[in-house]
Amino acid sequence: MKHRFLGDSGLEVSAVALGTWAMGGSIETWGPVDDGESIAAIHQALDCGINLIDTAPVYGLGHSEQIVGNAIQGRRDEVLLATKCGLPIASTRNGYPPRCLAPASILRECEQSLRRLRTDVIDLYLCHWPDPDTPIRDTMEALVGLREQGKIRAIGLSNFSCEQVAAAREFGPIHCIQSPFSMVARRAAEDLVPFCREHGMGVLAYSPLAKGLLTGKFREKDTFDGVRARDPDFIGKRYLRNLRMLESLRPVAEAYDKTLTQLVINWTASQPGITAPVVGAKRASQVLENAGGVGWSIRDEDRLRIDRILQDAQGES
Ligand SMILES: NC(=O)c1ccc[n+]([C@@H]2O[C@H](COP(=O)([O-])OP(=O)(O)OC[C@H]3O[C@@H](n4cnc5c(N)ncnc54)[C@H](OP(=O)(O)O)[C@@H]3O)[C@@H](O)[C@H]2O)c1
Repeated sequence: MKHRFLGDSGLEVSAVALGTWAMGGSIETWGPVDDGESIAAIHQALDCGINLIDTAPVYGLGHSEQIVGNAIQGRRDEVLLATKCGLPIASTRNGYPPRCLAPASILRECEQSLRRLRTDVIDLYLCHWPDPDTPIRDTMEALVGLREQGKIRAIGLSNFSCEQVAAAREFGPIHCIQSPFSMVARRAAEDLVPFCREHGMGVLAYSPLAKGLLTGKFREKDTFDGVRARDPDFIGKRYLRNLRMLESLRPVAEAYDKTLTQLVINWTASQPGITAPVVGAKRASQVLENAGGVGWSIRDEDRLRIDRILQDAQGES
């Protein structure tokens, strides 16, 4: 497994990271999960050389962090742990926490995450979503303070715009951005990713498989619940367009003797400015396949072919 520097954080992360949102396992999101399978998936990731594991308190309201914490016991030195603040689960109403990046809340959340993860340091601590009600100066002071105390090693922002990232950088270092990015969600390539490249920040691409859609495992007649049911890429004409796009991509993958999933991961991981895709998984077999998405290269002529397929699909919508 190849490693890359995460911006100028000094952290070297694997070219593929493991996402653990689905391991939180709530009915409204990814449906039920088997904790034993989740732990086996995390162990498989470590066995493949994947060292970055991404979680958040809100994933299963603490459950994902607990599973990660349990899975890494005895293997902490093989792992870089990324977790988040800004959706304090202790304040959850109607199933979802409010946005809050107030300093006192961040300090509380950090202690709770450290406890659930059963560790004394978080390698990468990200603000999950911007909080319009807290001045970013206050948020950054809290994060910089945590870093000075050795409770976190690097600071990241997730779901922030270029302008919001630029504002935060006035008050302390931002080592990395986490943003949606995939073959069907390329918006960040227009501004955020170039901005991060220019300023030495790493970029973690989340939902790189478009919540499993880009594995090519779904069919026209499939119906969805949870997070997929709410996602426009799984609905109506756009869904059908995505399925057609995947059928055009399939022969490209086959020419390399790779699965569609592996082609998609390779394409994502090799986009300029992307440090690593954070690929979600529920099972060890998925992690094994996903780890095979890197360590090989797509030829230039096939990159052009893929670009044309993506552009044609976009033109259809
Ligand atoms: N910062 C943020 O706001 C934010 C938002 C979203 C995600 N994230 C992070 O990014 C991670 C990944 O995003 P994501 O979970 O939304 O979506 P994703 O990585 O695009 O898709 C993950 C899902 O695809 C399916 N899958 C994965 N590998 C597969 C394989 N080899 N074969 C067949 N199916 C496979 C699994 O679902 P099934 O087994 O259920 O089919 C898995 O849960 C999250 O876990 C989380 O850590 C962060």
